[in-house]
Amino acid sequence: MAASLPSAAVLGARAFAALEGLNRFSDEPGKLTRLYLSPAHRQAAEWTKGAMEVAGLTAFIDAAGSVQGRREGPVPGGPSVMIGSHIDTVKDGGRFDGNLGVVAGILVAQALRDAGIVLPFALEVVAFGDEENVRFPTHLSTSGALAGDYDLAWLEARDAEGVRLSDALLAFGGDPSGIAALARRRGSVTAYLELHIEQGPVLEVENEPVGIVTAINAQRKARIYVAGEAGHAGTVPMALRKDALTASAEMALAVEAIASAYEQAVGTVGVFQVDPGATNVVPGSVAFTIDIRCPRNEPLAAMAAAIEARFGEIAQRRGVGLTITPYARADAVPMDPALQDALSLGIARTGVNPAPRRLPSGAGHDAMAMAALCPSAMLFVRNEKGISHSPLEAMTEADAGIAIRALLETVLELARREG
Ligand code: GLV
Ligand code: MN
Ligand code: MN
Repeated sequence: MAASLPSAAVLGARAFAALEGLNRFSDEPGKLTRLYLSPAHRQAAEWTKGAMEVAGLTAFIDAAGSVQGRREGPVPGGPSVMIGSHIDTVKDGGRFDGNLGVVAGILVAQALRDAGIVLPFALEVVAFGDEENVRFPTHLSTSGALAGDYDLAWLEARDAEGVRLSDALLAFGGDPSGIAALARRRGSVTAYLELHIEQGPVLEVENEPVGIVTAINAQRKARIYVAGEAGHAGTVPMALRKDALTASAEMALAVEAIASAYEQAVGTVGVFQVDPGATNVVPGSVAFTIDIRCPRNEPLAAMAAAIEARFGEIAQRRGVGLTITPYARADAVPMDPALQDALSLGIARTGVNPAPRRLPSGAGHDAMAMAALCPSAMLFVRNEKGISHSPLEAMTEADAGIAIRALLETVLELARREG
């Protein structure tokens, strides 16, 4: 039976060919930008649905815009093992972040079907659409919908152009009123597996093609609005200014200083919008974001409190208004130990390493949301440069193949455990 399964080399070549197909769809020519519910997202979702059908899955695009594919097990509608990741990207992102995990799931389904392997459970492959949360201030909304953790207030959220999420969802072909019904019953998914490019340099430095995620770091995000006073750049004396930009700049530096003071913590100001944004006008207001992360919940809470206190002090001293709107808060999520061991066996069966590297994830993933529904685990693939959220993101075809073969072996291991 196993003899008819494709080799790691074949799977790697198939994955790279599939990524070429999927990554044709971008909202910006010459870059890979695929924001949630955009025209490129719709095209990518259609492509993904077609690829799932070719792999023998029954597929549809769900009410929230995720693509769901399924091959039934012995009992129609019975429990499944789900493989998932996302097909949305950051602006000018990399080719592998999310996309590889979706393609991997499809290739595993195809390989099992071609080999005539009957599993004792249903196999599902899901391509989530809102993992990066770049367009709207949401948090893992599409995987949250399946996990039964969708905040309906998100439907009222607006993007930078003022478009409401519910309107964007309708224009995409989704159905805001159908989101609640996407929630899966506890027990209906027995395992969630996600293959993902490592978004840092650990596996590259340690010369390991793949690794197993132990836990996903805690994170919090907020939108900050600083209200100063616009004025003429040539006439308002320095001492009388309420410059929203210099106040915000001081706050951004405070985020950097506070995050640097906590072990393994990170803090980022990734969006900074100045209004009115003219050379000869003292900035009247600034909107910016903060994103803070840490492997443990308690230091992250202390960091958030320290940042809030420091922002308040800066705003008061400079006489500017301050509004902090937190919009995402996720505790650290441990990955399931038994599934980590199944992944370890899967990797060992590819012959690369009998004791694979285990490492935490600094980046967020759909597995964070899915872990609230079912045991979840992640397999990381070496990132050649350690760079992600950038077009420089890179991996070898050989590593992709090893990882997909390991994922396939892991599904077979789960089948053995049931059998
Ligand atoms: C997603 O990649 C995130 O970690 O923000
Ligand atoms: Mn990702
Ligand atoms: Mn990402």
